[in-house]
Amino acid sequence: MLSPNIRKFKTTIDVYRTKLEEQSAQIQDLRALEELHHQFLSRKRGTITLLFEQLKEFDPEEKPAAGQLLNALKNEVQERFSALETKLKTPAKPKGEIDISLPGEKLYWGAPHPVRLFQQEIENIFVSMGFSIEGGPEIETDYYNFEALNFPPHHPARDDWDTLYITDKLLLRTHTSPVQIRVMEKKKPPIKIIIPGKVFRRETPDPTHLPMFFQIEGLVVDKGITFAHLKGTLEYFLKRLFGERIKIRFRPSFFPFTEPSAEVDIECLACGAKNPDCRICGGTGWKEILGSGMVDPQVFKNVNIDPETYSGWAFGMGIDRTAMFAFGISDMRYFFENDLRFIRQFTLK
Ligand code: PHE
Repeated sequence: MLSPNIRKFKTTIDVYRTKLEEQSAQIQDLRALEELHHQFLSRKRGTITLLFEQLKEFDPEEKPAAGQLLNALKNEVQERFSALETKLKTPAKPKGEIDISLPGEKLYWGAPHPVRLFQQEIENIFVSMGFSIEGGPEIETDYYNFEALNFPPHHPARDDWDTLYITDKLLLRTHTSPVQIRVMEKKKPPIKIIIPGKVFRRETPDPTHLPMFFQIEGLVVDKGITFAHLKGTLEYFLKRLFGERIKIRFRPSFFPFTEPSAEVDIECLACGAKNPDCRICGGTGWKEILGSGMVDPQVFKNVNIDPETYSGWAFGMGIDRTAMFAFGISDMRYFFENDLRFIRQFTLK
């Protein structure tokens, strides 16, 4: 049983508890909270302080019960204040509505590298003509890179390829042509393939040379293949790549693994054959873009294909070099500097 004094004190405390609840429910900002804090906890005139004063008037045996009631209230007041303070200091969260007028979050978009993009365009044209795509090793033997392609040891033509040797017999391939040999060793005609890939030459980087670049090779072998097939296919290919009206010319040339051989030029896209001082074509109006020819009978013999029964043609073209020309890029080194402002500019037609 509570003594009458304690009961009365408990009623008083309950009144203040209700007051605390009502008033704190209305608090909207830190200033109002500050005022309420002052009202309850001010050291001189705060409600709690004054109630502690009243404790003195209780009999010693009533004091602990009264003290407990009052301490409970004081704790509640303090907890309420710190909860309100945290709430008011936390920035308001949006109420789950989406503002569709705000700009979206920017996503990082990658872009295909211009060399890869150009390579794919070339591949698509040949694949549409029924060619399949082959590949081979970048580290080659002297045999595949030169000997099987009819360059005898010490043949002066090897000087045309500034070769990066690893050992006497191992080297970084200087062209994609060794893959012709690898494919013909394994597959018998008909063969209709393209071979895109990296090649390496001992070059000092400058606007038109890099020690690593890309080539694409083509090879067709079957019965009754003639130079007319070579010419027709390459003309069709170049018109698909550069447009129907591009001017093309075939020029006699020499490669140890083709006979006869031809280099193919297209009209200069930079000056349209109109500028005698053009830096791209040197004023000739023509730009050499690939080497080609009929597969030399000796190459067929090296892979056990009978040159009396079969004939074929091959070509090799620089991908980066031609991409530079097609996209109007003045320096080959841009391709590999990884500047995204450059790389992201290119898209397929
Ligand atoms: N491999 C030659 C080069 O790198 C190009 C070529 C390929 C020529 C096929 C003729 C036939 O220059």
